[in-house]
This record gives sequence, structure tokens and C-alpha cells, in this order.
Amino acid sequence: MEKYRPQFHFSPENMWMNDPNGMVYHKGDYHLFYQYYPDSTVWGPMHWGHAISKDLIKWEHQPIGLYPDDLGYIFSGSAVVDKDNTSGFGKKGEAPLVAIFTYHDPVGEKEGRNTFQTQGIAYSTDDGKSWVKYDGNPVIPNDGIRDFRDPKVMWHEETGQWIMTLVAGDHAQFFSSSNLKEWTLTGTFGKDKGAHGGVWECPDLVKMKVDGSEEEKWVLLISINPGAPNQGSGTQYFVGEFDGKTFTTEQKEHLWVDWGTDNYAGVTYSNSPNDDKIFIGWMSNWMYAQVTPTKTWRSAMTLPRKLSLRKGIKNDYLVYNYPVKSFGNYVENSEKLALEVAAKRSEIIKNKKLGQSEISFMTNSTEFLLELGNKKGEVVEFGFDADGNFMIDRSKSGKVDFQENFGTIIQKMPVVDLPEDPFEVKIVVDWSSIEVFLNKGQYVMTAQIFPNDLYNRLVIKNESNETLEINDLEISAVERIW
Ligand code: FRU
Repeated sequence: MEKYRPQFHFSPENMWMNDPNGMVYHKGDYHLFYQYYPDSTVWGPMHWGHAISKDLIKWEHQPIGLYPDDLGYIFSGSAVVDKDNTSGFGKKGEAPLVAIFTYHDPVGEKEGRNTFQTQGIAYSTDDGKSWVKYDGNPVIPNDGIRDFRDPKVMWHEETGQWIMTLVAGDHAQFFSSSNLKEWTLTGTFGKDKGAHGGVWECPDLVKMKVDGSEEEKWVLLISINPGAPNQGSGTQYFVGEFDGKTFTTEQKEHLWVDWGTDNYAGVTYSNSPNDDKIFIGWMSNWMYAQVTPTKTWRSAMTLPRKLSLRKGIKNDYLVYNYPVKSFGNYVENSEKLALEVAAKRSEIIKNKKLGQSEISFMTNSTEFLLELGNKKGEVVEFGFDADGNFMIDRSKSGKVDFQENFGTIIQKMPVVDLPEDPFEVKIVVDWSSIEVFLNKGQYVMTAQIFPNDLYNRLVIKNESNETLEINDLEISAVERIW
């Protein structure tokens, strides 16, 4: 087994990968394109790598989808099924796939101009196998905004037009179009809302039903780098309204899809079955993404997660994210155990399969710590700290010294809104990553780790003065996908 290679998360066969791009479901396949540099394990002239999957878990690598050209590198963007052939790109009335992306012109950048990012489109009439760039590119020129990128396009049913959400430095812009080629600016959002510790990137605008009701809200995802709660890159969201022209919200607090250091640039699938909102993020952070200790490839995607919108106890609306159902098909069933850990004591569980596993249990305690460890004595510790935050401490987790912040940040997530009843704790471990989901995705943390050996030991520590009750504890191996 290649050291650190995820066994059930998507990673490129070789070389550099960053953001997921062009996520679209079409004729039974989930397409995943991604920022890819085929000549090196560090960032460079961007292409769109490509993979397909029937179930979002088992992926088949495909030839590169889009190559840089005279207009520039191919930066992040989205793809849609143009059902009514509004673009006219479809042959004999068949629906084409249309990709909408940012051109990044390295020459213009070097010359110090501010107009080097423009928006372009390409289409495919063979179900995503090959792509033709539109000869009218760029479809949106740049009149002087330095960071002007990452178009996410959707069909807006209510007004019968395409809507593009773009980021422009410190805010989002909305454009509309009837044919995907001509675009009109209709609104802007965000200069004075949300977190602004860095540049806004990779937006996504989705309409969601509040779980268990008919109420509908619009959710705007915005990645930001730097400026995330635990430093570097992260993804915030806003819940509000979209009237076909612009987005508005009453939301006061800063909300994050994931509080861990390693979930960035995530957006959702277009055209997915049942209109499910399926999210995938890049499981890294620009702080250290280019120096992580893998050899032939760099980085992986998060597990695909279904987003849902719920009413919180303290917050008005919360977006939950939780692994898609099909992931369950790769989790080998195991026996459910009940466990009682006496006050201030620990329980040690040995299990050789922990390196690629799913651990889940029910509890109502917020006073426990967990530790995953290996034969070399390396440990990653996570759980509730004395202030009631959930935290991940990877300072002793193995290789950490490739970058100064990697091992020193104690990642924290304020947990303010959990129910009093027992809630689920789910942890997914895949060689070099850990994903923690509290209460079915209400609170989520994702982090990379680089232990020098696979984990084989789980310690459950009861930090409280009362017995810790753990129910339905399952430690399950997860099947590999390659
Ligand atoms: C986000 C990002 C995008 C950009 C791409 C370049 O990680 O910076 O804004 O399009 O990566 O690779």
C-alpha cells in the first residue's frame, strides 16, 4: 500500500490536485473534474482532471478534460446539463454538457494588470469525454477586478434563466443568461457580511428545503483563504433569500460548513438525482497544501456529503453535512457494543483495522476525549476540551514538521447547539485523514494527519466525574475502492 494513499477517498493517480470542479450528474454518472497539474506535485498551470463514478465513492480515472490555451490556465468552475439546448451547442437537439470556468492569464498577471481572470465556457456532446472550447470566449471579460473567478452556474426555475455566482475579491456577483454565452450582472453580495480575513473563492448558491417542512431558503457557500476559524482556508455559508437577481440575508453570525483545517473549495453537484445537494471539498489547506509529505501525488477530496438545512436551537438555520448513503455500502458491518467508562478513567480498544475505518457511537456526554494511536506511539487526540469546544490536536500525530503551523494549531470548534438527548459521534479515518461528524453532520471537522504507521488503538477517556455512557459503538473496517 502506498504510504498515506487514501483507500476510499478520491485522490489523483499522480501529481497535483486542488479544488473539485464541474461536478455534474449525467446519464448515470457523477462527473468529478478537479484542478490538476499533470507535470508536478505542486501547483502550476491548471487543467481540469476528470473522474467518473456511479455511486460517488468508487471512481474511475478519465483522461484530462480541459487543457490551458492562449487565454490562460483553466481555473475552477462548474458544469451543467443544458437540457433545452439553450446554448445551441447540442447536436440534433441533444442536451450538451456545458462547463463554465475561469481563464487565468499568467502573462497578464506577470505584467501587473488586474484583468487577467475572465470567464470562459466549453461544451461536450459525447457525455463529458471530450470538450470543445467556445470560440466566443471569454464570455465575461474583466474590467479590473484582480480576483474574479470560480463561476458556479445553475438553472433558476422561477425566472427561467441561468444564474452564475462569481467571486470578486471581497464579495459575490450574480449574472443571468438565457443561453450561457451572454451574461448580465444583476447583483452583488457580501462586502459587509461574513468573514473577510482573506479573498473570497469558490461560491455556490443552492436552494434548500428546511428539513421536515415546506419552507425554502437559499444557501450561499463561500470559501475564504486565509481567514478560516482555525487558520488558512475554510468554507463559510449564509442562509437567506435569492430573488433571481441578488442574495440577501439577516444572518449575523459566521457559520462554517466544516471547522477543521482541511475542507476547502467545496461546492455541490448540479443535476443530481432527487435534487440532493451533494457536496465535495478539497481535503487540504493552502497553508501547507504544497508541502504535505506524499511523494507521487498531492491531496485528496473529502467524502461526498449530503447537505441538509435544519432549524437550530440557538441559530436560526444550520447547514448539516454528512457522508452520502452509498458510503455505507463500503463499511463492513460490525457488532454494536455498549460501554461504560468510569469517572476519570479510560478504555483502550485494540483493532488492526483502525487505519481505514468508521467509528460511531451514541452518547450525551460532552466531556470525553478520544485518541487514535499506532505502534510508534504517535497519536491524534480529539474530543471536548475544558471550555466545551470540540478540538483536534495533531501535534503528536506523526509527520508534522514539514510546515510550521501544521502541528501547532489546536483546531477548535465551538459546540453551542447540541441536543440534550444522546447524539451520534461518527469518525471516518483513511490513512492520512480524519473526518468527525457530531449529531449527523451538525458539527463537522476534517483534518489531514500523517502518522508513520496505521492506527491500531483507540482510547476513550472519560474526563468527567460521572460514568461515561457509550451506546451502539461500532468500529468498522472500510473497503478500499481501488
Ligand atoms: C481555490 C482556488 C480558486 C482558483 C483555483 C486555482 O483553491 O484558489 O479560487 O480558481 O484555486 O487553482
